[in-house]
Amino acid sequence: MMQNMNSLLLVFFFFVTIFTNFTFSTNVSHDGRAITINGQRRIILSGSIHYPRSTTEMWPDLIKKSKEGGLDAIETYVFWNAHEPLRRQYDFSGNLDLIRFIKTVQDEGLYAVLRIGPYVCAEWNFGGFPMWLDNLPGVELRTVNDVYMSEMKNFTTLIVDMMKEEKLFASQGGPIILAQIENEYGNVIASYGDAGKAYVNWCASMANSLDIGVPWIMCQENDAPESVINTCNGWYCDQFTPNNPNSPKMWTENWTGWFKNWGGKDPSRTAEDLAYSVARFYQLGGTFQNYYMYHGGTNFGRTAGGPYITTSYDYDAPLNEYGSLNQPKYGHLKQLHDVLHSIENVLTYGNISSMDFGNSVSATIYSTNDQKSCFFGNANSSLDATINYQGVSYDIPAWSVSILPDCKNVLYNTAKVNTQTSKMIKVANEAENEPIVLKWSWMQENLDENALLGKGQVSASHLLDQKVANDVSDYLWYMTRLDLDENDPIWSKNMSIRVNATGQIVHAYINGEYLGSEWATYGIYNYVFEKEIKLKPGKNQIALLSATLGYQNYGARFEMTETGLPGPIQIIGKNGDETIIKDLSSHKWTYKVGLEGLDNKLFDVNTNYSSKWLSDNLPVNKMMTWYKTTFKAPLGEDPVVVDLIGLGKGFAWVNGNNLGRYWPSFLADVDGCSAEPCDYRGSYDNNKCVSNCGQPSQRWYHVPRSFMNKDVNEFVLFEEFGGNPSLVSFQTVRPGSVCGNAYENKDMEISCQGKTISDVKFASFGDVQGICGSFEKGTCEAKNDAISIVKNACVGKESCSIQASASVFGATNCEASVSKRLAVEVVC
Ligand code: GAL
Repeated sequence: MMQNMNSLLLVFFFFVTIFTNFTFSTNVSHDGRAITINGQRRIILSGSIHYPRSTTEMWPDLIKKSKEGGLDAIETYVFWNAHEPLRRQYDFSGNLDLIRFIKTVQDEGLYAVLRIGPYVCAEWNFGGFPMWLDNLPGVELRTVNDVYMSEMKNFTTLIVDMMKEEKLFASQGGPIILAQIENEYGNVIASYGDAGKAYVNWCASMANSLDIGVPWIMCQENDAPESVINTCNGWYCDQFTPNNPNSPKMWTENWTGWFKNWGGKDPSRTAEDLAYSVARFYQLGGTFQNYYMYHGGTNFGRTAGGPYITTSYDYDAPLNEYGSLNQPKYGHLKQLHDVLHSIENVLTYGNISSMDFGNSVSATIYSTNDQKSCFFGNANSSLDATINYQGVSYDIPAWSVSILPDCKNVLYNTAKVNTQTSKMIKVANEAENEPIVLKWSWMQENLDENALLGKGQVSASHLLDQKVANDVSDYLWYMTRLDLDENDPIWSKNMSIRVNATGQIVHAYINGEYLGSEWATYGIYNYVFEKEIKLKPGKNQIALLSATLGYQNYGARFEMTETGLPGPIQIIGKNGDETIIKDLSSHKWTYKVGLEGLDNKLFDVNTNYSSKWLSDNLPVNKMMTWYKTTFKAPLGEDPVVVDLIGLGKGFAWVNGNNLGRYWPSFLADVDGCSAEPCDYRGSYDNNKCVSNCGQPSQRWYHVPRSFMNKDVNEFVLFEEFGGNPSLVSFQTVRPGSVCGNAYENKDMEISCQGKTISDVKFASFGDVQGICGSFEKGTCEAKNDAISIVKNACVGKESCSIQASASVFGATNCEASVSKRLAVEVVC
């Protein structure tokens, strides 16, 4: 008996030990059809959220909304230069806490896709490469080069090991189902010759040697070795075929809109077209699709790349820069995701057949023994189509896909938006007394040490590329002294300075006096600053302040693009017809990184310089001026922005947190916007459907709630160009008017996202014309009073739902062929 008891106990302890050490691992594999998770083929809908482009406090809400939006996975790049700003000195704090981000994804029950790169592009400063890497002797980036490969391997291994340590790969029971190495190398491989191909192979074998237990992907890389999956990036990827029959058809970047540059207009991509691209991809055998971006966020501090990428990285993504729903995009996609998920099994296991109806109209039928699901696609950009399928006729609007989970009833059509549109508005800061007048103090940046005295840190007898300064500041002074004798052949009444600069900003000072400034525009990397100067006999101090706007992040050998003032820098003298050039390029140049106010941390609440701020005679339109004020945090939970209208260009800090570069004086081009509603039909590109012509490219700047205290907050501006802070104000962003739209027999759902519906401005069920904000009754409508019906159902509530049908709104006098909809506009 005792013997038996002992052996039972032994068995018991044996199982306890096994189970406590056991983590349920997830098996991720793939075949030509799909990614398979734990033996089940899956379709995966994923969305990009870059952790440093929001704050840790925002992550849970962003990820929750992503899940509610029907996503299965969250994708992020890993940002090398943020994590290893100095060689072997790492930073994973605050919004760089990658582990915490992945765990937040896991807590929400979503998968993660980790695009390590570590070259990432992403409109991120220098594409994610740390500047010290580029300054290592003998280094050549993104090719077969020992110095580079050793550093790339070091960082990639570090990230993989961190993930393994926390058991974050699916193979260890974690959420990461896929990892990426390199980024779009196929776009540039040709310019590296044979070395490019060798480098791709090395990337793949290095990645595989890290043994992560989930597949590695390489995007836009047709030469990808078989051990990794090559994937597609673009606005459309339905025509993509991977280079290996065992690789599923995967789309790592479906661009939900586009990024913005200083001087650029606001990009937007319609919900209809985005949904069309996704439905089309799944119609034609797609399996994994990732929205780039699902939440774009903000380029805080100096993280924006380009050069010339704005601080906002909103991207017209389904979640806007501040994390609110961008409607109707978010809702229209959510409905699509639900339909796709409902037919996952037949999509990934079914037989596929197709029918061509001509004129770019086609049907794809997926069928198993139990289920048959259909996609009817019309890729014609102008002609609507009517097809007959198994004796039933179906209308398919131009540039749309209909999904029929049972091949009989159209459950979803990409061109028919049955979800609300929200127009966001900015509201004054209710915590302040009206009218809001911020009380400013100010301080002048001390320029004399450099502009007048030419004091620096190092000297060289040539012009340096600004990258050698290791990118610790936007600013680098180039200073030299010019001894001029009146007998010098160049001495003349008409002398000028000519500076060959590269795509960023230059401010010139002669003998301590400001001479002028110049800058280029997005995509232009070289320009010439030339201005007449007055020199004196004897010593003249020439000081040029170069300011960068983020380092280039894309292109073959983009690191070779010179930055700063590579020269030549010349003095030009004109005596009658004769022109004499004095080249200063190999003069002795003295260099100083940064500005005094930045070195002294004037933006820091704990700075020692508080006594030096002046409160009288507030200067306006004065270059190189620091401004400081305090403000009360806006009440409530709505996202907060600061309106910087009236200012030039510079940096802004709230309680020492750098909001990013600001430049409201840079206006977007006046051409290219249209008053007409955007036509979703036809291929999208970033020049289509733009808005905000002639307005500041970016006027409002995100102030995350976590940057503020509940009571008084400090706000500091460094104004480089000169501006007037008197109109600056803190505001909140929330839905103003919200429109509901539903086609016949669908439910119209409307929500003020936490606010109450206060009034109904428009309601009609019939052939309503126009878009949200300018709805008009059509030629026919239902007989009951639609406004009262909607008021009864919605006013005073946060959200409401009404069926768009004759049983609710009464019979209509519309012809049978008219496609009827319920359109509603409410006030939040
Ligand atoms: C892709 C790149 C992304 C991003 C995108 C444009 O080519 O892989 O990182 O730069 O373009 O937003």
